[in-house]
Amino acid sequence: MKVLAIGATGFIGQNVLPLLIDRGHEVAVLHRGETVQSPPEDVREIRGNRDRLTDCRAELERFAPDVILDLILYTEQQTQQIVDIFRGTGGRVVAVSSGDVYRNYDGFRGKATAPPDPVPLLENAPLRETRYPYRGHEMNFGYAQDYEKILVEQLLLGEPALPATVLRLPAVYGPGDRQHRLRPYLQRMTDRQAQILLEEGQASWRWTRGFVENVAAAVALAVMDPRGVGHVYNVGDEPTFTEREWVERIARVAGWGGDVVAVPRSELPDDLRQPVDWRFHLWTDTAALRFDLEYVSPVPLDEALRRTVEWERSGLGE
Ligand SMILES: NC(=O)c1ccc[n+]([C@@H]2O[C@H](COP(=O)([O-])OP(=O)(O)OC[C@H]3O[C@@H](n4cnc5c(N)ncnc54)[C@H](OP(=O)(O)O)[C@@H]3O)[C@@H](O)[C@H]2O)c1
Repeated sequence: MKVLAIGATGFIGQNVLPLLIDRGHEVAVLHRGETVQSPPEDVREIRGNRDRLTDCRAELERFAPDVILDLILYTEQQTQQIVDIFRGTGGRVVAVSSGDVYRNYDGFRGKATAPPDPVPLLENAPLRETRYPYRGHEMNFGYAQDYEKILVEQLLLGEPALPATVLRLPAVYGPGDRQHRLRPYLQRMTDRQAQILLEEGQASWRWTRGFVENVAAAVALAVMDPRGVGHVYNVGDEPTFTEREWVERIARVAGWGGDVVAVPRSELPDDLRQPVDWRFHLWTDTAALRFDLEYVSPVPLDEALRRTVEWERSGLGE
């Protein structure tokens, strides 16, 4: 099978490519070439900007992919370009979306438009009633202004001449994670603090996470298995822990023997208070992917944490 992998030179894509190559697929990666990593030798490289896909349209059409894997589909405009180029070509799309499409995400960020939705969130749980969640935010993300995965999903899934699968990713962690999702807790463990304080609501809050290699395995599976066409799947490791359990799991792997203590917000130091509403869980149900495509996470939790802790510690100077 020929796979065009857009933006597969980054954190997640680097872990997807070997899975496709090992299964004998012919892979071309489209990227700008601004990252340090070039694609592996056995991958064809198409240099281009995904915001001006028409510039490399001829090369894309020559490659004639059976599957277009888009890891960096952020805006409606980008999606329209994909549709315009690949509609009716016989190719299908696998698009990476996010759990931030759910209405609970707005509630979590203190912008509730409804009471908390029951969790775990199935794929048909209510979506945000607002749009452009990062517009106006100061962040190091070039697409913050127009980012909206809800519009990406709707446009793709509404185009009958371009079959598509949508994967809603959880919080992804692992070696190479630029967001350093483990670091805040790990730093306190490395500093040998006796206690890690959590706000009471935070201690029982649940957020679905995914180790990067497990997420990559789900992405590769959706690329290789056409049974996912027309479906939206939540992706994530099972189980989804409470925040207290999550910290305790990290502690076990990191060899930290302190206590995780839940306290009322009023007793939390200012620097640990977060401007969020912990009643809104970001816990997604990942059973459909496991059932429909027989997805199994390849890396167990303790091993995933061990590799991530090791990687983080190399950056923490230990
Ligand atoms: N990390 C998480 O926790 C999380 C959670 C939910 C969803 N997601 C989703 O996961 C995806 C991000 O994956 P990732 O972390 O692997 O991305 P990443 O590390 O940012 O990598 C993206 C790659 O795409 C290339 N690229 C960026 N802009 C480009 C452009 N305009 N044209 C062509 N290539 C471009 C870059 O390579 P060059 O610089 O060489 O072009 C880069 O290596 C997003 O769709 C995000 O919404 C992530």
